Amino acid sequence: MDTRTENHPTRLDLPPLHLGELTIDVPVVLAPMAGVTNKAFRRLCREYGGGLYVTEMVTARALVERRPESMRIIDHDPDETPRSIQIYGVDAVHVGQAVRMVVEEDRADHIDLNFGCPVPKVTKRGGGSALPWKTDLFTAIVRTAVQEASRGNVPVTVKMRKGIDDGHLTFLEAGRIARDSGVAAVALHGRTLEQHYSGTADWDAIAQLREALPDVPVLGNGDIWSAEDAVRMVEQTGVDGVVIGRGCQGRPWLFGDLQAAFEGRSDRFRPGVDQVARTIYRHAELLVEMFGDEAKGLRDIRKHVAWYFKGYPVGGELRARMAQVPDLATLRELLDELDLSLGYPGEAVEGPRGRAGSPKKPHLPDGWLGSRELGDAERLGLVAAELDASGG
Ligand SMILES: Cc1cc2nc3c(=O)[nH]c(=O)nc-3n(C[C@H](O)[C@H](O)[C@H](O)COP(=O)(O)O)c2cc1C
Repeated sequence: MDTRTENHPTRLDLPPLHLGELTIDVPVVLAPMAGVTNKAFRRLCREYGGGLYVTEMVTARALVERRPESMRIIDHDPDETPRSIQIYGVDAVHVGQAVRMVVEEDRADHIDLNFGCPVPKVTKRGGGSALPWKTDLFTAIVRTAVQEASRGNVPVTVKMRKGIDDGHLTFLEAGRIARDSGVAAVALHGRTLEQHYSGTADWDAIAQLREALPDVPVLGNGDIWSAEDAVRMVEQTGVDGVVIGRGCQGRPWLFGDLQAAFEGRSDRFRPGVDQVARTIYRHAELLVEMFGDEAKGLRDIRKHVAWYFKGYPVGGELRARMAQVPDLATLRELLDELDLSLGYPGEAVEGPRGRAGSPKKPHLPDGWLGSRELGDAERLGLVAAELDASGG
């Protein structure tokens, strides 16, 4: 592609990632992101590089009930392989049913379990990143999922945070439980629930987990904004693969850079405004096709437009109009107003993007931290946690 430029060479020869019988040639994972990693966005990312591209999270119960939105989330394009989905659940029964349904109906080749969601309305009922604190519940969910998935040889992985806060870390113990339950890999986002998306991800914790679990692949997640960051994470922590979230928002080509770096090549995508504009239009078309609804697709593209143009010299007034774009024809008109001759702006486009914010006191059920085992009242509260889940 014409926008590829030479950069400082960074070499890395990491072997393919093995998840059960699946082989992921480029050990890179698109992090599940609710509202972002749908079929349309995954297609754009996949076109740039190899890796494992995970759906948005789907709630176990909603999936078992076959709600239309859940069925939309787990749908894949016919050429998408492997088909990877993420399930969020708070009890072994519903997670087990959801996994069984996926496996029996051959709807995925890989299942990730979400234990990282920091949303207060979820954690205050004991779900998401609050859950691994209850080791009995965590064990039951992971074991059941692995057992159900094994009937179809579908590998299961877990994705989690470091713990609730620095005084209540869970990742080493949860990693061991997951390993002993037969997961194919463990992914760690190097932040606690308390941190939400603030501060920096703790790559030392990722290294610690890698060392503690020599017999299962460990994937590192948090603050990879470039291929060079990914290489540094592998070098510093020894992980078997990297998981990329916010860094690819508005930059699907990052997966091309990652593949290049992992193959020891130094070429990188440096798109100018014209390529960004073409990608936005295509992304919008894919969203419209996916939702089967032009207005819905265009509502969804608006946040992506802001990410795509981060660091590009696009005027405030044009940005504001794009933030309200109602249909594809208007999007085309607005994109035509851009100066397509402008090249890659450099540093302004790189570095952190997306959600950040500040630490938040963890919202937990009363007395949650008092015991590592689940009480009866807490078990009831969890049911509501699942009904409220919306991403991680
Ligand atoms: C908009 C958004 C939605 C997310 N949704 C999910 C989700 O559905 N499941 C999940 O496990 N993590 C979710 N996450 C967390 C990411 O997968 C990832 O762990 C986190 O962003 C840290 O990685 P990063 O520094 O590369 O962004 C979400 C993050 C963002 C920013």
